[in-house]
Order: sequence, then structure tokens, then C-alpha cells
Amino acid sequence: MTQLASSPPVDQGVFRSLARVLPYAKAELPRLGFGTLVGLLASAFALAIPLTLEALVDGPLQTGNTTLIWGSAGLIALLGLLEALFVYLRRVTVLTPGTRIDAKMRNAIYQHVQDLPVAFHDSWQSGQLLSRAQTDISLVRRWMSFGLVMLVSNSITIILGVVILFTWSPLLATVFIVASLPMLIFGSRFRTRFSGLARITQDQWGDVATSVEESVHGIRILKSFGRGQDALGRFTTRASRGRDLEIDKGSTLATLTFWLGWVPDFALASCLALGVWLASAGSLSTGELFAFFATAAVLAGPIASISFLLALTFEARSGLDRIFEVMDATNPILDVAESSAPERGRGELVFEDVHFRHEDTEADRPDLINGISLHIKPGETMALVGVTGSGKTTVTALPARLYDVTGGRILLDGVDIATIPLNALRTRIAMAFEDATLFSARVKDNVMLGRHDVSDLESPEAHAILTEALEVAEAGFVYDLPEGVDTIIGEQGLSLSGGQRQRLALARAIAADPEVLVLDDPLSALDVQTEARVESALRKVLATTTALVVAHRPSTVMLADRVALLHEGRIAAVGTHSELLESSAAYRSVISSLADTDQAPREDRAVTDSTIELEIIESTGLDDDARLIRRDDEDAR
Ligand SMILES: Nc1ncnc2c1ncn2[C@@H]1O[C@H](COP(=O)(O)OP(=O)(O)OP(=O)(O)O)[C@@H](O)[C@H]1O
Ligand SMILES: [Mg+2]
Repeated sequence: MTQLASSPPVDQGVFRSLARVLPYAKAELPRLGFGTLVGLLASAFALAIPLTLEALVDGPLQTGNTTLIWGSAGLIALLGLLEALFVYLRRVTVLTPGTRIDAKMRNAIYQHVQDLPVAFHDSWQSGQLLSRAQTDISLVRRWMSFGLVMLVSNSITIILGVVILFTWSPLLATVFIVASLPMLIFGSRFRTRFSGLARITQDQWGDVATSVEESVHGIRILKSFGRGQDALGRFTTRASRGRDLEIDKGSTLATLTFWLGWVPDFALASCLALGVWLASAGSLSTGELFAFFATAAVLAGPIASISFLLALTFEARSGLDRIFEVMDATNPILDVAESSAPERGRGELVFEDVHFRHEDTEADRPDLINGISLHIKPGETMALVGVTGSGKTTVTALPARLYDVTGGRILLDGVDIATIPLNALRTRIAMAFEDATLFSARVKDNVMLGRHDVSDLESPEAHAILTEALEVAEAGFVYDLPEGVDTIIGEQGLSLSGGQRQRLALARAIAADPEVLVLDDPLSALDVQTEARVESALRKVLATTTALVVAHRPSTVMLADRVALLHEGRIAAVGTHSELLESSAAYRSVISSLADTDQAPREDRAVTDSTIELEIIESTGLDDDARLIRRDDEDAR
């Protein structure tokens, strides 16, 4: 798998990165703007207090007018109250926009990940996707609902405060600014270091999520091979690195906080020395000096918060960068606009000189699928055989456009599949795979997954479809589950046996009632008897449905009208099973190797297979083929 976490992030500037949240935040901007305004008003009330103090010190305190003193005290109390009220209002206002933006982005990323092609998922670790949809979006939410508004209103407050300092005393204000300059240097250093760290840390947590996901998913394998400790070791290594990075981030932030803590105080101390001297020289009134320091004290809070707010901002920025790496991934499988409801065709599937190679294949390697031409007639069942790794699964992924062909074309009822809207195409072609994936939902939800046209699963119509599909797939075991077809099966169907899962997946493909059924060895986990029963039931379905069936057992091959042999990326031979047995040495060799991979011990298989085969033969009239297959099997020995 491509390790995306290690790819260096593209630095496109903090503002450009952050601005990408705009499309999701547009509707919330008025509320965020109002929140900022309210925050600024709170600061304005705070900054007005020193004004009152100056008036108090230079006025009533000098003259000893007690009524005015009480008046000033009352005014200060009122300003304090207003400040608290507006801070409260700001908090309430900015609470919801973040959560709304969060929900919008989460939906968008989920939908996009769903839309992206299989090839994208081949190269991305699930943990990296998961952490983007969870952690990174939370970072953006925190920033939107708190960081941004505070950063804007605090920055304006600081600028406003400095302007007020100038009005009290330009000289003192200049000294204050000059003495504060080191903060800028440390702020800029912090930006570079913290931004980089934030990105690496978030990538690291993505790797940790991958570890968790993989070991939970593969828990049986880890346990059975006694490799739990190794998995724990790998997890611990990744998690420890995540912890170290968090500590690094923390100490970088602490350094900035340290500088933002003492540099302004140092600036204030310089101002104090100078200010007292100015006041004693008479060029500054005591009230002005008092107000200068009171203003500076009001600024202390916003200045101290800047480090924390910058940290939030840089984290949100790398979160957005990571989110948009996924959102920017384009889907090369282009869809066409749906013109009308898909009509049911005859289900003729034609491969015309089809080529396919994975994107990352080395240039000197031939195409994995190197020019396949195959004509599957309406209602015909075509078996696809070939040695392991010959590309059978790849071929089955092409008609439904899980991968796009890289050369040639595939026609469904004479129409290039690239010109059929994906939704329509995938309704017309249903698939079942060897590794049957089920969802944590009711049995009936899983089986009826492909029936977009049936919305009410409780209707008699839905019930009829479900019952028939379960019957054909020999999945009657579901009625013995605690709540029958309403039983919720475990995550990825793990509480069912492999064969049970395969039968449900097959039922799902059958229930979809497609024109073309593509089955990638969906019966591999069944015992021979069950497989035979499924096959004879399938035969009824397949009589009207076109099917492309990857076969690993001679008995599956015999289900087919014709067989195509895939060899070195090409169709080496195509014909009925008996024709090929006679004409193609390569086919005989593959068929005998298929027989060898059957799970029953040789001697037993000779009995069971022939009994079962006879059953199928009787119901299908394939006697010649059956004799041939057994003869071939014996030849192979
Ligand atoms: N995402 C991928 N990127 C690159 N190569 C791949 C990818 N997926 C599969 N392959 C390669 O393509 C080849 C064909 O794989 P495929 O799964 O189609 O074989 P198969 O005939 O179905 O094998 P089996 O009988 O074992 O199921 C294999 O060599 C495999 O390594
Ligand atoms: Mg395969």
C-alpha cells in the first residue's frame, strides 16, 4: 500500500489552506461575523475602563469630589458587567456554526470517499481516511467555533489597544512596541515549527488508526498465529511516536507561551521606568500613566491567548490540508448524466479487445488484461477459468466499472458501458465476490441492498423477492437465527460462517435481479453438497440471466453454457466444457489443477464429486462432459 503519511505536505500558505473551508462555512459567516463583533464590543467595554480610571485619577481624586468617585466606580462596574455579558453572548453565538460546518464537511468527505474508485482505496490506508473524517474535522470545528473568532477579535483588540496606548503617550507606546518585537520573531519561528509538527502528528494518528483498524479486523488471524504481541508492539511503536510528537508540539507551544508571557511584561517594565520619569518631569499626568498601564493590563489577556489561538489555527490548517488531499482526489471513472430511467435490456455482454493495467504497474510489464475479446450472449452463462493470479477477479471488476478498462471497450446490449450512467449500469449488473462482505444491519437489509426500487422492506413484494433469493442461495439458515431475517448480523458479518456469508452475498446478487450476474467464485467456502444444491437452484435463475462466473471447481464449470480460459491476459480458448477438454491442452491442465484444489481428500472426492456431479448431470443433461471431466481427472493422476 502506498504510504501517504510520509509524502511531504504541499505548502500552499496558511491563508489559502484555511480559505478552503469557505464553501462549507458560507452559510455560517453572518453568525461568525456577529460573534466577532460581539467579541470586539466586549473588548471595547474592557478598554473603556482605563478611560474612566484616567478621568477618575485626574478628576475627582485630585479634587476630592466623592459623588464623582461613586459615579466613576458605578460606571466601571457597569462596563465590567457589559463586558461579561458580551463575552457570554459571543460564546453562545459561535457555538453552533462550528458544529454545522463539521457536519457538512463530514458528509462531504464521506460521500466523496464513497464516490472514489476502487483504485483509490487500493492505495489509501483506511486509518488515514478514518482519522481525516474524524480527528481532522474536529480540529477544524474547534477552530471555526472558537479559534477563528477569538483570533480575529483578539488581534483587533490588540491593535486597538496599541492605538489607545499611543493616545496616552506616543513615546511610551513606541517603547512598548519596540520592547515587544522579539515576540514577532518567536511567533514566526513558532509558526514554521508548529505547522510542520501539527501535520506530522496528524499523519501519525492516522497510522495509529490504521493499526487499530487492521488488528481489530484481523483479530482472528493475529490470535490464531499468536501474533497479538507483535501487533501490540507495532501499535505501541506508532502510538509512542504520536505521543512524542504531541509532547514536541506541547513544548513548542510552551516556548511561545513563555515568550508571550514575559516579553510584554519586560516591555511594560521598561515603560514603567520611563513613564514614572515622564510623570515626575510633568510631561505625563498621573491619570494618563495610570490609564496607560490599565490599558496594557487589559491587553495582557489577548496577547497571552495568541499562542494558543495560533496553535489551534495551525492545527486546523493541517487538518484542512489533510482533508482536501482526499477531497481533491478525482474520480477517473467518469459518470454520465442520467437521461431516463434505465430500461431492462437483454443482458448481452461483449468484451472488445479489452486491456487493463493498474496505474502503478511498471512500464516494461505487459498489460494484466492484454486484449480480451469475449461475447456472452443474452441468458448465457460463461465460466471464466484460469490459474491463480491470472486476472479473473480483475476481469469481473470491469463490466460494473469498478475499474475502467485502459484499452478497448465493453458493451452491454450494444452500448459502451462508459456511456451508461453508473447507477443504471450497476443496477443492471450485480456482483458477488469470494470474500463476502456484509454490513452490520439486518439480514434483509443486507440481501435487499441492490434493490433500489424496493423502498419498503416490509412489503409483500419485498418479502417475495427476499424469500426467493434466500431459497436459491440455499440460505435457509437465516430463519434459524434468533430473529430470522430481522436479525442484525455482526460487523462485516463476522458472526456468520464463511459459507453462510457467501450464501447471503449470493442471495444479495440474486435479489438485485440484474440482467448480468457477475460471480467471482462465490461458492468457494461451501461444502460440495451445498454447492451442488445452490448450483442447481442457480441454474433456474441463470436460465434468464446472463452470467459471468469465475470457477474454481469443475462442478461450477459444468454449470456454464460455455467456458473461457484466461491465460497470460488473453482468452486462450473459449467453447463448451467438452469442446475445450478435447481441443485445448491448456484447458485440460487448468481443469485438472482446479480438481486438485478441491478440499475433499482425493479418494473421498472421487466418490462425492462423482455422486454430486451425477445429480447435476441428471438435471442438466451434461453426461458427456461429466465423463470427460472424470477421465481428465484420472489422466492428471
Ligand atoms: N490493486 C492492484 N494493484 C496492482 N496489482 C494488482 C492489484 N490487484 C491485483 N493485482 C495483481 O493482478 C493480478 C491478477 O489478480 P486477480 O485478483 O485478478 O487474479 P485472479 O485470477 O482472480 O486470482 P485468484 O484465482 O487467486 O483469485 C495478480 O498478479 C495481482 O497481484
Ligand atoms: Mg480472484
